Amino acid sequence: MNRFILIWLAPMLATAMPSARAGGDPAAGKAVFARCASCHQVGPSARGAFGPQLNGIVGRPAAEAGDFKYSEAMRRSGIVWSEQTLAAFIRSPGNVVPGTAMRFFGLGSEGRIEDLIAYLKSFDADGNPAGAVPSGAARRP
Ligand code: HEC
Repeated sequence: MNRFILIWLAPMLATAMPSARAGGDPAAGKAVFARCASCHQVGPSARGAFGPQLNGIVGRPAAEAGDFKYSEAMRRSGIVWSEQTLAAFIRSPGNVVPGTAMRFFGLGSEGRIEDLIAYLKSFDADGNPAGAVPSGAARRP
């Protein structure tokens, strides 16, 4: 029985390590984000520029950044960004949100999209390293 618990636990512990590969590779994703960084920011001082800031984007409803003026299309999309919808949007923005103001030809490679999403997931809603503090403790009232 103990053996089975260990087998189950080992990958969980591995994914808890910051450097471990959990789906995508955040370090590689940082390089991919260079493609987005002309329009988007992440991190504690991120703000809206050509595009909205992307802190805590996985799990964030579309068009939520208060300091960015979104298109009608994005505001009405009703999307809550998940890894799936993000991957699809990055591959082809106009197919997921027809009429979006995001002008981007899309990233083709599945592996690079995974890495990119892993990188984006490393920022919490305030742009701090996700998982550095127990979730809840970082939230302000
Ligand atoms: C040429 C500028 C530009 C580039 C490059 C770009 N974006 Fe965008 N992005 C935008 C704009 C503008 C919007 C707002 C779209 C709207 O309002 O319809 C946006 C919106 C988004 C949203 C929705 C955000 C929200 O708050 O709902 C996500 C997610 C996103 N972009 C991810 C990316 C990623 C990841 C990349 C790189 C692979 C990227 N974008 C590249 C301009 C860009």
